[in-house]
Amino acid sequence: MHFEHHMLREIKEQPAVLAALAKRGQLLLEKDGGGLFGFDDPEGASFQRILFLSCGSSYHASLAGKWMVETFAGLCCQVEYAHEYRLSPPLPLENCLVVGLSQSGETLDTLEAMRKAKQAGARILSICNVANSTAISLAHTAFLLEAGPEKAVASTKVVSAQLAAVFLLALRLGIAHGRLPQEFVQKHVQNLMDIPNQLSTVLQNDSFSKEVALALHEAKQLLIVGKGLAYAIALEGALKLKETCYLHAEAFAGGEFRHGPMALVEPTVPTLLLMPSLPQESFELMQGTAREIRERAGPLWVLTQKRPETLGEADAQLYFLPQADAFLSTFLFLAPLQTLAYHLAHGRGLNVDSPRGLCKAVVADP
Ligand code: G6P
Repeated sequence: MHFEHHMLREIKEQPAVLAALAKRGQLLLEKDGGGLFGFDDPEGASFQRILFLSCGSSYHASLAGKWMVETFAGLCCQVEYAHEYRLSPPLPLENCLVVGLSQSGETLDTLEAMRKAKQAGARILSICNVANSTAISLAHTAFLLEAGPEKAVASTKVVSAQLAAVFLLALRLGIAHGRLPQEFVQKHVQNLMDIPNQLSTVLQNDSFSKEVALALHEAKQLLIVGKGLAYAIALEGALKLKETCYLHAEAFAGGEFRHGPMALVEPTVPTLLLMPSLPQESFELMQGTAREIRERAGPLWVLTQKRPETLGEADAQLYFLPQADAFLSTFLFLAPLQTLAYHLAHGRGLNVDSPRGLCKAVVADP
């Protein structure tokens, strides 16, 4: 009988999970956003700032959420590790929407951070995949991801669901603040509806993850570089590789790579660049990073939607993804990194679904 790991099955479930969330996104076109996030327009307009509290993969989805909220809603948005926020000075949080982002809704640090933010006067929204979780019971309002149970310890489909949820939340806040015309919302919801098909294509034609997994079989390290939203994805990809393959994969923000990490590049240290074609300015800056890596003879893989002009045929192995808008490309870049982690872990004979020293939710202090 053919055995399929939970992780691989859950990666493949992503198009269906996103299709369901995109369908729910249509509620945004109704009055008060169809009640999607549990606040009406006047309450939504009262939020002057947004604070995400989370850990691990949920933190990476929060970083992507910050870009989306700042762009669509024009609101100042902050992202804090829940464990750091627990120890931070207790500042007032009036007119602030705090988003506790947690797959399980049971991560102790996130729960404690949400409690602290509640005491400081924030409105608390839990975005979670587990209906009867503690996070949902302590929040004022909740958005259930409905991605179905995730059995592999390393999260894949729930992270994608979180990204879709924060995308919808950003649009919802933009609507409440009167910034987004109906046609704009319609277009972005439609863009999200198109993603499941594109993602299925990416998952079917996935030469990237198999080839790179083979090349990394004996590797001890990997540098992953991206800018903006692609930085959040680089962080998440690096975490998946650490969690499941015990590979020291480290993510860097494109601009920061020149402030030290570039010194790591040499012929035995491979780099993976994530280069969405949009925003154009980020793509151009990353072209410079690609050139500098090749000047140091670093082996290079590039996941992109457009050929970088600075790279000749022999300079790098290029893998192309379908075009999508700057926000939704996030899903197309994330999936190949998840499958890379899967194939590398499997190829190394590791326990893909239950990596050493990890559990689905960290529910106690050390
Ligand atoms: C654990 C898991 C991670 C997860 C993190 C946050 O460390 O191993 O994969 O990202 O908890 O979990 P949460 O349920 O709060 O999203």
